[in-house]
Amino acid sequence: METAEIARRFLSYFEDNGHAVVPSASLVAEDPTLLLVNAGMVPFKPYFLGQRIPKWDRATSVQKCVRTVDIDEVGKTSRHASFFQMLGNFSFGDYFKERAIPLAWDLLTRPADEGGFGLPAERLWVTVYHDDDEAADIWADSVGVAPDRIQRFGMEENYWSMGVPGPCGPCSEIFWDRGPAFGEEGGPLADEDRYIELWNLVFMQFERGPGGVKKDYPILGELPKKNIDTGMGLERLAGVLQGVDNIYETDTLGRILHRAAVLTGTRYGDHHTSDVGLRVIADHMRTATMLVSDGVQPSNEKRGYVLRRILRRSVRNLRLLSGEDRNYLHDLTETSINAMADIYPELRTKADAIHNVIDTEEKNFADTLRSGTTLFNRAAERTKSTGGSVVSGADAFQLHDTYGFPIDLTLEMAAEQGLSVDADAFAELMQRQRDAAKADARAKKQGNADLSTYSALVDNAGATEFLGYSESEAEARVLGIISGGESVPAAREGDKVELVLDRTPFYAESGGQLADHGTIEVPGQGVVDIADVQRPVPGLSAHRGTVRSGVITLDDTVRAVIDIDRRASVSRAHSATHLIHSALRNLLGTGTGQAGSENQPGRLRFDFTANRQLGNADLAQVEEEVNAVLANDIEVRDFQTTLDEALSMGALAMFGEKYGDRVRVVEMSDYSRELCGGTHVNATGQLGLVKVLGESSIGSGVRRVEAAVGIDALRRVSRESLLVSQLSEQLKAPREELPERIDGLVGRLRSAEKEIERLRAEQVLASAPRLVAEARELGDTLLVAHHAPDGTTGDDARRLALDVRGRIPSDRPVVVAVAAVPKDRPVVVVATNEPARQRGLRAGDLVGVAARALGGGGGGKPDVAQGGGTDAGAVDAALRAVTEAVAQ
Ligand code: ALA
Repeated sequence: METAEIARRFLSYFEDNGHAVVPSASLVAEDPTLLLVNAGMVPFKPYFLGQRIPKWDRATSVQKCVRTVDIDEVGKTSRHASFFQMLGNFSFGDYFKERAIPLAWDLLTRPADEGGFGLPAERLWVTVYHDDDEAADIWADSVGVAPDRIQRFGMEENYWSMGVPGPCGPCSEIFWDRGPAFGEEGGPLADEDRYIELWNLVFMQFERGPGGVKKDYPILGELPKKNIDTGMGLERLAGVLQGVDNIYETDTLGRILHRAAVLTGTRYGDHHTSDVGLRVIADHMRTATMLVSDGVQPSNEKRGYVLRRILRRSVRNLRLLSGEDRNYLHDLTETSINAMADIYPELRTKADAIHNVIDTEEKNFADTLRSGTTLFNRAAERTKSTGGSVVSGADAFQLHDTYGFPIDLTLEMAAEQGLSVDADAFAELMQRQRDAAKADARAKKQGNADLSTYSALVDNAGATEFLGYSESEAEARVLGIISGGESVPAAREGDKVELVLDRTPFYAESGGQLADHGTIEVPGQGVVDIADVQRPVPGLSAHRGTVRSGVITLDDTVRAVIDIDRRASVSRAHSATHLIHSALRNLLGTGTGQAGSENQPGRLRFDFTANRQLGNADLAQVEEEVNAVLANDIEVRDFQTTLDEALSMGALAMFGEKYGDRVRVVEMSDYSRELCGGTHVNATGQLGLVKVLGESSIGSGVRRVEAAVGIDALRRVSRESLLVSQLSEQLKAPREELPERIDGLVGRLRSAEKEIERLRAEQVLASAPRLVAEARELGDTLLVAHHAPDGTTGDDARRLALDVRGRIPSDRPVVVAVAAVPKDRPVVVVATNEPARQRGLRAGDLVGVAARALGGGGGGKPDVAQGGGTDAGAVDAALRAVTEAVAQ
């Protein structure tokens, strides 16, 4: 049974049993405690906790999941995968164990022609939590499982939580017996390799607190209702139903794996090591495709790092398997898309965007590999020249830090040269960097203070009253002074502080709008310059700045004054953001949504979801529409209402407001209506001018428009106009003819370059007859060892070597070696004919000899091989080394 059919069957079984079919949520979890969705229940967590009321009391889904904890195990075992799909059925306070258990059993054992999975009951075992007699009784009495097939386990196995505070409960698992070939008889208690977990039924009825991942945590109490959360790995079930004992051989992963084998010229099943490599590639490419499709971009932190890491591991494994420096990911991404599009048709529509992200990352990593290899070789050289055998932790760290070299790569490369790496020192440097980064992030977000300091202030004195919609200055009282992470009674000249006031005209950064700047002053006593305002805990504004002069003391009455020019400029940007949002929705349809924004003085950035790139004509249309609204000088109004009311007026909401909340709506007649807490102009005419600066992709399906507003927009237009005048003078062409003129120039340049390339290649090949004539005799072997002129490319060297080999009669052993320096690194190509190979003269070996002399490596097939190195001065030495090797 194909994977897509298994998923369909699962959903329709539960739909027939009264469950709402809920589509998979994005892998990017909304839950702040998680990087990526890692279980089917994640999107439903608020329902279990009673924080939100679901629309249905039974649901079923096939949820995309990524788990990266045991990424190093991927491929080594038959069951670990970084991406998998979890089949699940859920009850939110509706049925409990008495129904969940029989439902699961019925679906698994029901014959396939009656809509089930047709698994033979005699190969199933079940487990329950050690004191869960209720579940054990249901298994025995209602389902009829023999008591000796019901086993009991402790907390670690049969109690489930997300590993962090949240819902939890005892669980019961169904196991599949793979058969006597895989281990001992006796159920999961006896052998966990032979009996594999298929389905986990969680009786979600408690809430847990902080503590261990699987055990050693407190149970805080009961959830409002008793719920059911089940999860069965789709891949694992597919493995069982497709009769393969390995998820990598199932239909979807298998397709990617076999493609990787074809591309790298390996055969699956030949060697354990190459099999592991192929499985890693198949797993990682699928995961990467799914992550990118959900908007994850490669980066150095969090989800982005997960993606980067798996892409790099794929590239590395592909190159190790094939021995070639080639790009494979495009092809494998395409295979992954095709393998998964049955269940996720959006992969097809997003294909271009997905390719873009993955191709770019592969190219960047290839560059990294090249520069990092040079650096590594230098480090290795240094180590050897001082008689050592351990590459220092500092070198390994630099490779990681500057070139993004994964440590396992450094370890492998060291091993290849008979060296090891000081892993302890490396780990220590990594830890130091992580600590510094953490401290830095803390400092940025919280001004170094522990959140409890702020919480205590809000608890005692209540929320900061915001006056800034109408006032630009106000009298206020100092409720808190935080310095060096602690509450202090006073601060003096030069101190960096955070001030908490009872009321303030300062806007704290939020909703994309940057904070106000200004001063807080005790007249005649002290002044603090404020450069940032943040809300470290809800309701509390922390004014960050430096005491310019004098002293500020707790309880002082101060005058808080904002920089009104900055505020006006930021407000203009914010109003312009709303206008651009509306214009984009008019252009792209109401499916377009806001994905983020930033309003700075005179400038804005607006991120939105879109399934296509915006061309110049689109941008011009948006710009024109927005500027037309400015010319109409529409009043900008704000008012408070209920969320229901606001939504029924068509107001656009972005963040997770809850029903029942009072919300603020900002409206510009019927053109724009949004929920917004920010500050705005009074009428659109105050914006003056909005100039769209450009558009770019910032993730799959997410694009960014940037624009300048007001005087900044005008400056931008003038600068560009000046630039065009300069070009027009330089090229001596009227402005409107510039594009054509430049096209012409670029075209001519390109053909000139091609011509040079062609002539050079011709020149190189023209030397072939002379080289044949000058071939040396070493015994009965003919050897041509040629140092081609600088600038000869690797391809030309290869062509020349093959040409020369072809010109010499093939009854005698012939070896042709051509070396050159294309740019600054030497390359060498060796070609041999059949009689030479019979004599044991293999091109791959000879290239290895030459490349070592060049300070590098290489190899390849026996008939023709290519290598390279770093020492451009060693070309002649390399050719001599080949000559010696042939002579022997
Ligand atoms: N939430 C349960 C799991 O992930 C079903 O195993």
